[in-house]
Amino acid sequence: MSTPASTPRDFPIRRGCPFAAPEEYATLRTEDPVARVTLPTKREAWAVSRYDDVRELLSDPRVSADIRRPNFPALGEGEQEAGARFRPFIRTDAPEHTRYRRMLLPVFTVRRVRAMRPAVQARVDEILDGMLAAGGPTDFVSAYANAVSTSVICELLGIPRENLEFFRDVTRVSGSRTSTAEQVSEALGGLFGLLAELIAERREEPRDDLISKLVTDHLLPGHVTTDQLLSTLGITINAGRETTTSMIALSTLLLLDRPELTAELRRDASLMPAAVDELLRVLSVADSIPLRVAAEDIELSGRTVPADDGVIALLAGANHDPEQFDDPEKVDFHRTDNHHVAFGYGVHQCVGQHLARLELEVALETLLRRVPTLRLAGDRDQVAFKHDSATFGLEELLVTW
Ligand code: HEM
Repeated sequence: MSTPASTPRDFPIRRGCPFAAPEEYATLRTEDPVARVTLPTKREAWAVSRYDDVRELLSDPRVSADIRRPNFPALGEGEQEAGARFRPFIRTDAPEHTRYRRMLLPVFTVRRVRAMRPAVQARVDEILDGMLAAGGPTDFVSAYANAVSTSVICELLGIPRENLEFFRDVTRVSGSRTSTAEQVSEALGGLFGLLAELIAERREEPRDDLISKLVTDHLLPGHVTTDQLLSTLGITINAGRETTTSMIALSTLLLLDRPELTAELRRDASLMPAAVDELLRVLSVADSIPLRVAAEDIELSGRTVPADDGVIALLAGANHDPEQFDDPEKVDFHRTDNHHVAFGYGVHQCVGQHLARLELEVALETLLRRVPTLRLAGDRDQVAFKHDSATFGLEELLVTW
């Protein structure tokens, strides 16, 4: 079966409510579940919005994540060109992808991440002490959300923490759809320079951190080159920082908007793990991060995505699909069987998901417990959202207490 020749819609589609998928996704799911879209790069691609189709697509071995393919549906020219040059493993296929993923997996197991809880808690407390001591009003995104996500990654990798602002700038440029290839390359070049120095140091003097482990287990035996290691560390930082920052900040705004949900969490702290997964589902901040190319003709919902065409898995579309989730717009911390796809699905499913959950749990629980008077310092209508970033989030959030 082939596809109707409707005029492609412009993509990405903006969110109306920051705590939900764009309204148009509901229409897409019912009327045009495999929709032709035009990207900001002027390339065309397909956008898949139903839960079953998204999971089928992301687990289909006939689908490629290789950014070098001509129709790869990057949302910005900068990402497409720089990606083809630096080849982050998130944008590669097996067997190359498998090799890099296997390098990271042992570091991110449930057991190892669980063992990180005291260190994450200590870091979060320290950051909150600093924010409270400095006094409000303050920008919550930089003072807390970004500080937590960046410090935890720095701690894991073994990067000195004075680089907090530097990482924020790198991710802002490399994650923006409006950045040029030169801007992305320059930002990544700065990051790789810093990481290269650390790799050289750890070669001489290994420590108990991820960079040392990768150097000892993979670089020194010759399984990877320094450039390959740099690219793997770079994508781990980029993939893990902005997403977690956005989730902490947006979740906090949602809880400030909805005091009854905050009260529920205060009454019963054991709800926190389920609440985090529900927030991940509802907010779906990584909505259009899974970008693919069909390596062969692929059929979804009775439509054909022709071989070599780009295709985007709309995670927010899937996570708000009423066929899968009862009353999907409801934020329900008691939801059972919450098999959301906020971390993607299939072979590229988020490597850092256990760590992300841990960070969110600790960051939100600590905030609710220690700063019960937290409130917005500015006008709610003036809160600025990031619509042009690979990850949906907040530009800034002025708070006081
Ligand atoms: C709430 C926070 C996070 C969200 C929503 C998120 C979301 C995602 C998604 C949707 C993908 C799949 C992309 C695709 O299929 O193309 C992914 C992949 C990835 N994520 Fe995350 N992520 C988060 C946190 C983290 C953290 C904390 C780390 C590491 C410290 C991390 C590291 C990675 C890596 C390395 C990949 C690539 C995996 C692969 O290609 O095999 N992420 N993430």
